[in-house]
Amino acid sequence: MHERALGRSGLTAPAVGMGTWRTFDVRGAAAEWQARAIVDEALIVGACLIDSSPMYGEAERVLGQALANHRSDALVATKMWARGADEGRAQIERALGLFGGHVDLYQIHNLVAWRTHLPLLERLRDEGRVGAIGATHYSAGAFGELAEVMRTGRIAAIQTPYNPLEREVEREILPLAHELGLGVVVMRPFAEGGLMRRPPTREALAPLRDWGVETWGQALLKWVLSDPRCHVAIPATSRAGRMTENAAAGAPPWFGADERAYVARLAGAG
Ligand SMILES: NC(=O)c1ccc[n+]([C@@H]2O[C@H](COP(=O)([O-])OP(=O)(O)OC[C@H]3O[C@@H](n4cnc5c(N)ncnc54)[C@H](OP(=O)(O)O)[C@@H]3O)[C@@H](O)[C@H]2O)c1
Repeated sequence: MHERALGRSGLTAPAVGMGTWRTFDVRGAAAEWQARAIVDEALIVGACLIDSSPMYGEAERVLGQALANHRSDALVATKMWARGADEGRAQIERALGLFGGHVDLYQIHNLVAWRTHLPLLERLRDEGRVGAIGATHYSAGAFGELAEVMRTGRIAAIQTPYNPLEREVEREILPLAHELGLGVVVMRPFAEGGLMRRPPTREALAPLRDWGVETWGQALLKWVLSDPRCHVAIPATSRAGRMTENAAAGAPPWFGADERAYVARLAGAG
């Protein structure tokens, strides 16, 4: 798996990681065993940056359990999602307990109360309990505020959506991240699965074979990762085999402008 410096975060991350929204919000032995098997598969294929949040129900707990014997093989990118300082502190203590006392990338989920939380995250980073600080937002309507946080110089990475149907980050966020040297983690590479409902035929994908692309998921991940301003894409899955498929897209050769335009057309982008 191709690795990249995640901007100036100090982390070296795989090009393909994994998300846990919905897919890891599970309870019960069978479902948790399945989640553990998906984490094992992700680690085997090198997709070792795994994103979570206290907003995702059981996901942090299920991930922590799955990593119990493999913590040092993974980069945990979780988040805080709290209106106030006390709730934020409790979320962090819980997550540090689940992830062996260290979170590699601590992100402020959807910028909630970011001015309140940054000082605590900065202290934990200085103490070595947090590797780097990031901020996320899923909505283009919040990109102005995200840019404001980026310009403070207090975060090292951002997480935003990017796929052929959601390209708003191209206007301000990706150029600014590049200028500031910030790491970029890409959420929703498959538009929450929406891009997977009517995949192109094998014949339509054939021109991409020289780039190592066999499946539509790989075409979309390579579309994201061929933009040099993006460092890690984090598709989520609940199915065995898909992390192996997805991780295979995290290596060169990267697409040029023509191949990216072709994938965007296959995705139905205007
Ligand atoms: N505000 C935020 O901070 C924020 C917001 C949104 C997302 N995120 C993060 O970003 C992660 C990714 O985004 P997402 O989960 O919304 O959507 P996504 O990764 O774009 O899409 C997930 C869907 O894609 C399907 N899928 C995965 N691999 C596939 C493959 N190879 N072929 C076909 N289908 C495949 C999965 O179905 P199966 O389960 O059937 O494989 C799942 O339904 C989240 O899990 C979360 O960690 C953060």
